Amino acid sequence: MAEDLKIITSANKADQYQSLIPQIEGLLNGENDLVANMANVCAALKEQFKWFWVGFYLVKSNELVLGPFQGPVACTRIAKGRGVCGAAWERAETLIVPDVEEFPGHIACSSLSRSEIVIPVLNDGEVIGVLDVDSSELNEFDETDAKYLQHIISLIEFQ
Ligand code: SME
Repeated sequence: MAEDLKIITSANKADQYQSLIPQIEGLLNGENDLVANMANVCAALKEQFKWFWVGFYLVKSNELVLGPFQGPVACTRIAKGRGVCGAAWERAETLIVPDVEEFPGHIACSSLSRSEIVIPVLNDGEVIGVLDVDSSELNEFDETDAKYLQHIISLIEFQ
């Protein structure tokens, strides 16, 4: 039963992403300002999914520095390898964390965050930032989120 419910939830999620993506394409179309585009992508995702926190960190002087986001105030700088964001940067791979308390070194910007997904932003094979999404629910994110969030990031011109 729980597995069935999970499949239904994933399908709904895919539908939501599929209706959201053309809206995001519309927002990004003709606009080349990176901060404006990252800000609108965060807002669109937060509005659609009502997640706890959605935001970008960008690599600056070998640290992740907080960029545009939606949600409560968050830590400003994250070292390589630290927390989920720093680990996703170091490994250059998407990390899905079903329960943040189980992730060694997780950085708790808020005790209300229970699960998390972090997607690296790649430019010419190099990680130049991450998209971090936090949920107040356990086990919120799966491969469907990874796939669609990677696609959404690919729509932003980072150069
Ligand atoms: N939890 C993250 C830190 C960023 S905040 O969640 C916005 C981490 O462990 O990297």
